[in-house]
Amino acid sequence: MKVLIVATGNPGKLQEMQALLAGLDWELALKPDALEIEETGATFAENARLKASQVAKATGEWAIADDSGLEVDALDGAPGVYSARYGKTDVERIDRLLHELGNELNREARFVCVVAIARPDGAIVLQADGICAGNILYAPRGTGGFGYDPIFYVPEQRLTFAEMTSEQKHALSHRGKALQALLPQFQAL
Ligand code: IMP
Repeated sequence: MKVLIVATGNPGKLQEMQALLAGLDWELALKPDALEIEETGATFAENARLKASQVAKATGEWAIADDSGLEVDALDGAPGVYSARYGKTDVERIDRLLHELGNELNREARFVCVVAIARPDGAIVLQADGICAGNILYAPRGTGGFGYDPIFYVPEQRLTFAEMTSEQKHALSHRGKALQALLPQFQAL
């Protein structure tokens, strides 16, 4: 079985990828903790490619990385690639976003995710993206998920990401869609 290193320190992402890539002839493993990659890119794609490439080169194995974030129209796309660095904790990040948006009526937003796969020599061989559109609520709702989930409302489901089961969320989330888009290309490798 071939090994695919998941270039994240987040066990939740490893589980999500394992669920989606189950049945393939690949064994997924988390990257070593000590291996930290700085996200210096200006776009999700640059960061995903950077992380996959550097982890592949450092471990000598195939690597998969994702980069994701929330783009809010009325904030000119912020927090965007800075989503993880918008505050120290999830609560602080949500508070800051709600404060900056204030009573703005245009609450349109989208989660974006780019996934990239690198060969052991660091060359990027596959890339795919996924988008999930929604609205930012005025106050958090729900207790599931992580990050900005409690304020991200998906009109079609009439639920926030934090009110969905993990299966519901993965079926329509930006990360779920990006991985689904990557799957056929990955199988063909
Ligand atoms: P990264 O992709 O690990 O660099 O981090 C992206 C950041 O965007 C996370 O720390 C969260 O704040 C936010 N984010 C990305 N995906 C989600 C999601 O599915 N729900 C809530 N927040 C998310």
